[in-house]
Amino acid sequence: MTAMTPVPRKQNPVRHSKNKIKLGVFGFNIEGGCTLTNAPERHHAADWQSNVAIAQMADRAGMEMLLPVGRWRGWEGDSNPMGVSYETYTWAAGLASVTEQIALFTTSHLSTVHPLFAAKQAATIDHISGGRFGLNIICGWFGKEMGMFNGLQREHDRRYDHADEWLEIALRAWGEQEAFDFQGDFFQIAQGYSQPKPLNQPFLMNAGGSTRGRRFCTQHCDAAFLILKHEDDDDTIRAQINAYRDQARIEFGREIQIWVYAYVVQEDSLAEAERKLQYYANEQGDDAALDNVTREIGIQSGMFKDAADAERFRFHFKAGFAGVPLVGTAPMIVEQMQRWSDLGVDGLNLTWLDYRSGLARFVDEVMPLMEQAGQRQTATSIITAPTQVLA
Ligand SMILES: Cc1cc2nc3c(=O)[nH]c(=O)nc-3n(C[C@H](O)[C@H](O)[C@H](O)COP(=O)(O)O)c2cc1C
Repeated sequence: MTAMTPVPRKQNPVRHSKNKIKLGVFGFNIEGGCTLTNAPERHHAADWQSNVAIAQMADRAGMEMLLPVGRWRGWEGDSNPMGVSYETYTWAAGLASVTEQIALFTTSHLSTVHPLFAAKQAATIDHISGGRFGLNIICGWFGKEMGMFNGLQREHDRRYDHADEWLEIALRAWGEQEAFDFQGDFFQIAQGYSQPKPLNQPFLMNAGGSTRGRRFCTQHCDAAFLILKHEDDDDTIRAQINAYRDQARIEFGREIQIWVYAYVVQEDSLAEAERKLQYYANEQGDDAALDNVTREIGIQSGMFKDAADAERFRFHFKAGFAGVPLVGTAPMIVEQMQRWSDLGVDGLNLTWLDYRSGLARFVDEVMPLMEQAGQRQTATSIITAPTQVLA
């Protein structure tokens, strides 16, 4: 009998990539992706082979991150966007086994899963992937959704108190060899224990936009994931980004990455791209679903100052859940990405109306131009830094 070869430990590219503009694919585990549209060409999520094809395309192209949306029910309206979705730990585990180098994230509503259960799932995905796991921490803001879990929609800032305890337990489960006790407001743990440990320290990300959310993110996470207020002027956008970096540095002595998400509409001319955008976001836009999203975001989260602030982003919500627009020809998209990079963005998680055709075209036409512009190295030269080993 031959001895089993251990899974080789790799590095997590989100942590180690030297690319000036890192890239990911966001939201292809959910119906409609990040659009709110009735257009029949929209993404259909419950097709595992399609999820695998998208993941492998991004992996081979040398992108850094695959990121799911955490969603338990849809936004109703005509198309019920996001109403069908793959659960994100099992999704990441499945994709870990069919990819080589890209980081696999879960997007986890902390109140739906016990931290020791999550820590073990995370370690398992980390082993399947050889150390490429990342956790996108979310606290829940869609009331109807959280109502499905023992009515666990806590008061806004209390959600982050819960998250503080949850994360402390998960970090101890990943890091401590000895069993540990924990007594908190939300969790009581006797002789907490979790083996195996992850191969690499899980990469942590969070999208808190409120004062309390930003504090949680800058204190604990490796990356902030922002709804960039891209309708603002450059100085205001820079200030939004710097607020995260500065708080992480000054209050907590840490460096963090800044990630945003962007909807891509790439065509042979700007006019064609704008026509396509008008078609799926305006003519075919699901305004009833949009009303549900903006109402809920306005009430439950700190992402927007008030309803008027959210109103400015109505069109962008239909186009790509309020992401940054990357619209036009391949060279135009490269230029637009350069602007976000110059303003302080480290990574862009991309979305499309139709991920398979959109990603293929982006990889073929935009990524070579990014290399020429010095925004990215060629795919093969990415994984060079030594692996970080969890103590
Ligand atoms: C870029 C981005 C992605 C997000 N993805 C999800 C998600 O997948 N599922 C979810 O329930 N909330 C998601 N959220 C919402 C956040 O987790 C968080 O609840 C929200 O930013 C409100 O936090 P705050 O009240 O501290 O601003 C996302 C937010 C942003 C900005």
